[in-house]
Amino acid sequence: MQIQNDKDLHGMKRIGELCGQALKLMLDSAEPGMSTKHLDDIGREFLQQHGATSAPIKAYNFPGYTCISLNDEAAHGIPSDKRVIQAGDLLNVDVSAVLEDYWGDTGASVIIPPSRPELEHLLDSTRKALYMSIDMARPGQQANAIGKAVEKFAKRNGYRTLRELGGHGVGRHIHEKPSIPNYYNKRNKDVLQDGMVITLEPFLNTGRGRIKTEDDGWTLRTVDGSVSAQFEHTVIINGNNPILVTQVEGGYV
Ligand code: CO
Ligand code: CO
Repeated sequence: MQIQNDKDLHGMKRIGELCGQALKLMLDSAEPGMSTKHLDDIGREFLQQHGATSAPIKAYNFPGYTCISLNDEAAHGIPSDKRVIQAGDLLNVDVSAVLEDYWGDTGASVIIPPSRPELEHLLDSTRKALYMSIDMARPGQQANAIGKAVEKFAKRNGYRTLRELGGHGVGRHIHEKPSIPNYYNKRNKDVLQDGMVITLEPFLNTGRGRIKTEDDGWTLRTVDGSVSAQFEHTVIINGNNPILVTQVEGGYV
């Protein structure tokens, strides 16, 4: 969407704050022995208490309030009683929600202790790729220039990016135009404009960067068993000062 007035700005800031707080609460709560369904319930209760509803349910009838992905699941993992978080897991939570017809979207990856240096490096690199994207998110910037830079940064750090997943317009729906790929896509002609609301969400992967959809119809799992990390903010293009509506005090992204 395009911010038209103060109501739009405040609406996006409110849903962004709620998504950011829900994500922080969920990642603060995650621990070994907890099922991903339990973790999802924590996010659901928080969002419902504040009048927000799940974007993946509203838009796609997704079988969970949030997306929770473990290890070789790259994204869109379905919360389940049978999926129990273990020590050493790489956990990604993606929270997108709607309040008064404004849609926000954020995500982050964490390691459930004990950590490993190679996973820390993956997370650090992915977070840096996000903030590099945010620094480039200015009016007049080509979406492709961001993708090219993210891909180059990933390669330099020993990773690939997932081509099927990337940033997107947001605000009046969960997935809007433009798309901001995490690679150089020569067909993409999108240009960022002031007031545009987008997500930026690099996915860096330790393997070949290929994923497939599981038989459940949702879960995106890497083909080679490699792991991925993702960090995501909802961003309003605003001159030289992009506004991160999903950033919260003490948050993970
Ligand atoms: Co998301
Ligand atoms: Co997104």
